[in-house]
Amino acid sequence: MKHNKLSDYFALTMTKIFRLIADNFFAKRYGHRAVVLETIAGVPGMVAGVCMHFKSLRNMKTGWGPYISEMLAEAENERMHLMIFIEIAQPNWFERRLVLLTQAIFSIFYFILFVLFPRTAHKMIAYFEEEAVKSYTDYLEMVESGKLENIPAPQIAIDYYKMKKSAKLSDLIVKVREDERSHSIVNHKYADLNSNDAVIENKPEIKGSLFNNYKLEKFSEGIIRIEKN
Ligand SMILES: [Fe+2]
Ligand SMILES: [Fe+2]
Repeated sequence: MKHNKLSDYFALTMTKIFRLIADNFFAKRYGHRAVVLETIAGVPGMVAGVCMHFKSLRNMKTGWGPYISEMLAEAENERMHLMIFIEIAQPNWFERRLVLLTQAIFSIFYFILFVLFPRTAHKMIAYFEEEAVKSYTDYLEMVESGKLENIPAPQIAIDYYKMKKSAKLSDLIVKVREDERSHSIVNHKYADLNSNDAVIENKPEIKGSLFNNYKLEKFSEGIIRIEKN
C-alpha cells in the first residue's frame, strides 16, 4: 500500500509538471497544443505493447494477447488524433524540433519507467489522459463560444469516426475527448491490476502483481479468468 501511495504521488507530480509546461508553452493555442501533445501520446501504448509482446515471447506464455492488442490500439488511436489535428494546425519550426527532442527523451524515459514500474507508468498515463480530457473540454468551449471558428471537420476525421459529412470541429473534439476518457479508464485498470496488493473478486487466494504471477485471459473485457502458472 505504501508503495502504491509513492507510485501515485510520482504519477501525479509528473502530470502536474507536464501540465504546467504545456500550459505555459501553448497557452490558448489549442490546435498546436493538440498536434504536439498527440505526438507524445502515441508513445506509451506502443512502448507497453512492445514490452509485453517481448515478455510473452521470452516467457513463452499466453494470456497477454488482449492487453498487447489494447495497448497497440491505443497507440494507433493517438496517431490518428495526430493525423487529424495536423489538418487543423501546422506546427511551426520550433515545435517540430521540440517534437523530435521530446520523442527521444520521453520514449526512453517511458520505456525505463514501464520496465521497472509498470503500475506507476500506467497511473501516470491515466492522469495524463484525465488532463487531456480537461484540455479538450477547454478547446470545445472556445469553439462553442465562437472564440475559435467552428470549421468543418477534416475528411480524415469524418472517415475515421464515421461522422456525417457536415460534421464540425466541435463534433470532432467531442469524439477525441471520448477516446482520451477511455484511455484514462484503461490505464487506471491496468495500473490497478498491476498493484502488488491487487485482489480479484471471489479469488482471495490470489494476491500480488497479476502481470507476473498469473495467466490472464480476456483481460480487457473485464472478464478476468485466472490460471496459476
Ligand atoms: Fe489523443
Ligand atoms: Fe489519449
